[in-house]
Amino acid sequence: MYLWIKALHIIFVVTWFAAVFYLPRLFVYHAQTDDTPGRERFQVMERKLYRGIMTPSAVLTVAFGAWLLWLNPAWLSQGWLHAKLALVAALIAYHLWCGKLLRAFAADDNRHGHVWYRWFNELPVLILVSVVILVEVKPF
Ligand code: HEM
Repeated sequence: MYLWIKALHIIFVVTWFAAVFYLPRLFVYHAQTDDTPGRERFQVMERKLYRGIMTPSAVLTVAFGAWLLWLNPAWLSQGWLHAKLALVAALIAYHLWCGKLLRAFAADDNRHGHVWYRWFNELPVLILVSVVILVEVKPF
């Protein structure tokens, strides 16, 4: 049972990160787009990715992760899990920030250039690398 829940947890981590990496990439190209049909196409792509994939994946990742903790509460006393949960909180904040930027693009009120979005796109890489090391190596 535990391993099935863990498999589902990892599946939704993968789909969450696919969207977390792709949405800011769309922002990079959207920020470089001047024509109305092009902007409207990006708005639809961004909204569908955020609502259809990114947010459901985040909810399911957290739900299956919480289920794992419920099945094995011993993890709650380990340092790696505390560090991981702090990074998950940072990832959720990043996710919500993406939603805010998406709403600005939807209102044609984007305030950042494509270079800013390229750097913004790098932030979740640090979270992914750190979380995978924490859960696999469990260094503390
Ligand atoms: C609130 C959200 C989360 C909770 C409560 C949670 C909790 C857990 C727990 C309890 C395990 C089982 C550890 C084990 O059996 O060794 C696990 C496994 C795992 N988690 Fe999460 N997790 C969450 C979010 C995430 C996120 C955002 C990522 C990716 C960045 C992630 C990546 C992983 C991976 C890769 C494993 C597999 C470890 C293995 O190979 O055994 N988790 N998670």
